[in-house]
Amino acid sequence: MASGPDEDGRERIVQASIPANDVEKIAGEQALEQRAMKLADQAKQADESFSKDLRPRRFQDYVGQRAVVDSISIAVMAAKKRGDVLDHALFHGPPGLGKTTISQIIARELDSQLIHTSGPALERPADVVGLLSNLKRGDVLFIDEIHRLSHAVEEYLYSAMEDFRVDFMTGAGAFAKSINLPLQPFTLIGSTTRAGMLSAPLRERFGLAYHLDFYSTEELAQVVTRSAGILEIDIDETGAHEIARRSRGTPRISNRLLRRVRDFAEVRNSGTVTDKVASDALEIEGVDKLGLDRLDRLYLLTLSKNYQGGPAGIQALAATINEDQQTLEDVVEPFLLKIGFIVRTPQGRRTTPDGFGHIGLPPRLDGPAGQGTLL
Ligand SMILES: Nc1ncnc2c1ncn2[C@@H]1O[C@H](COP(=O)(O)OP(=O)(O)OP(=O)(O)O)[C@@H](O)[C@H]1O
Ligand SMILES: [Mg+2]
Repeated sequence: MASGPDEDGRERIVQASIPANDVEKIAGEQALEQRAMKLADQAKQADESFSKDLRPRRFQDYVGQRAVVDSISIAVMAAKKRGDVLDHALFHGPPGLGKTTISQIIARELDSQLIHTSGPALERPADVVGLLSNLKRGDVLFIDEIHRLSHAVEEYLYSAMEDFRVDFMTGAGAFAKSINLPLQPFTLIGSTTRAGMLSAPLRERFGLAYHLDFYSTEELAQVVTRSAGILEIDIDETGAHEIARRSRGTPRISNRLLRRVRDFAEVRNSGTVTDKVASDALEIEGVDKLGLDRLDRLYLLTLSKNYQGGPAGIQALAATINEDQQTLEDVVEPFLLKIGFIVRTPQGRRTTPDGFGHIGLPPRLDGPAGQGTLL
């Protein structure tokens, strides 16, 4: 998540990081999982900090996702016109596709304050009650990684979202008292890479829900050209398309690759970034023609070679690759599924003939698994 106030100072940030001491206390697997998540958060933050000024600030600058932008911008305009607060909105889809960005745009277009927090930051019910009671009419409360909210915290959100009130208990035993606290009407925007992990009661309380899908090469070329303009990088159309093709359908990756290509062009004195400059630079980075990086290829190779194309369970794959299971599920698999290199079956993951082809292996013809991969 972003780690400081937005340039125009509208955003208040609630600290989301997990203190190192707390992590140490949690034993065994849980500690490992927490550490992996923390590392993922830090990687994301590093990414965000460099791409901050590249974030589109208005709907018209937001590239692609036309259906989503059309629908949400109408809802925003209608709410503004009526002087109402916007319905609660949920954005889900793979990392780096613009969920946080569009949420910030919504708050800006509503002329509202955005309060940015995340599921793991709201540890105790008191955190969420404090946050909700401080909201002003029309504020936008953005909860990143909303699937990581604890169950207890989630329950407070139900009445807050539906009736703009929270009920909580104070005192204990004979002194226990139930307090009903009215809230100012607000808009909750949730963002998640794991819509499936949201409980049904929470999901149903969002009046607006959108799935963000991977971007086309054409759209990503627009993202690259726009970012190159802001960063004053000299790039031609072929260069922008080459970076776009290798961006795994993801604007965050486009921006990252653009930086790498710029470094390469500066060191080599290449002048204008063309397709040749971009492809030379990205080969060095280990990003292949389809945008697969080392981890994507390692996943594909492990599934195809060690497990003969599957079916293999995600836990077994994660253990063999020595990589966090959630990273594989959130970051690696969605794109491999999208381009048809793997399929998910009830028995586990399988490599498709195209997947075998990409890493230069013949598809398996023998046995039930092999037949399955050719279907
Ligand atoms: N539609 C878009 N047009 C232009 N740039 C975009 C677009 N969407 C995202 N970006 C760029 O990609 C970066 C990543 O987007 P963002 O942080 O919104 O992704 P996210 O979906 O919230 O990811 P995560 O799930 O990891 O939180 C942004 O900093 C922005 O520069
Ligand atoms: Mg985000």
